[in-house]
Amino acid sequence: MAIAYLNGKIISSNDPVLPIDERGHQFGDGVYEVIRVYNGRVFMMPEHMERFFKSAEAIKLNVGKSSEEIMAIVDDLIERSGLQDCDVYMQATRGIAPRNHLFPNVPASISMTVKPSKHVNEEVRESGAKIKLLPDERWQNCWIKSLNLLPNILAKQEAFESGALEAVLIRDGYITEGSSSNFFIVKNGEILTAPATNHILHGITRIAVKEMALELDIPFREQAFTSDELLAADEAFLTSTTQEILPVVEVDGQKIGNGKPGEVVKKLYELFLEKM
Ligand SMILES: Cc1ncc(COP(=O)(O)O)c(C=O)c1O
Repeated sequence: MAIAYLNGKIISSNDPVLPIDERGHQFGDGVYEVIRVYNGRVFMMPEHMERFFKSAEAIKLNVGKSSEEIMAIVDDLIERSGLQDCDVYMQATRGIAPRNHLFPNVPASISMTVKPSKHVNEEVRESGAKIKLLPDERWQNCWIKSLNLLPNILAKQEAFESGALEAVLIRDGYITEGSSSNFFIVKNGEILTAPATNHILHGITRIAVKEMALELDIPFREQAFTSDELLAADEAFLTSTTQEILPVVEVDGQKIGNGKPGEVVKKLYELFLEKM
């Protein structure tokens, strides 16, 4: 059963609970995480907690709870939901106060939902995804998991309307990441992905891929690459908590490699399935 939490109360995810003067709602003034639960086990929770608190600190937001307290709430919600495979969404905002750009002196609002996991369409997982390249119009602090996702939403919608699953973004001639994923290519057996600078979200699944590449003895290089390098790649794939590791086979109508999911991404996903 889907379940939700707001500032200490367990609620139904359909309850109308949001006060008008809530800063997440009015300003997008907050940060969030999306976490996956496999077989009742929260996947890579320490990494998610570290990123959550780093994001909060970056926007000068005092969450008002420790990482242990947040984890205890998550565990309790998962248990109450009775779900084994689910997605946890959590966000912290700068609280409830009359609308004013300046920081209010009120406690942060913390809300969460636990819902059954969304799964990637089986056919897309089998045959690979299509993507669309679009300009990266976001701000300079993409490493902060901020609630402000307007450029991401607009890019994803444009990609979707063109028949692609994901928008992959280009800044100053180099590919950064997807609108809601990190992006990788494979060339001559080596994995390449944009370095973890301020221009990308430091994805948790990206960390998992880096660790698995080491385990599988596959060279892994964090180096920016261009759309020409993408088109000349042998394989491409994207990663995110909800999409896991997903092969990409077509960019703006052009095939990558032989147009089929490659061996490297298959190996990574097989190992990922063992770890989840
Ligand atoms: C912009 C962006 N990049 C990358 C990711 C992947 O991050 P993670 O693997 O932590 O889900 C996401 C996830 O939603 C995202 O929104």
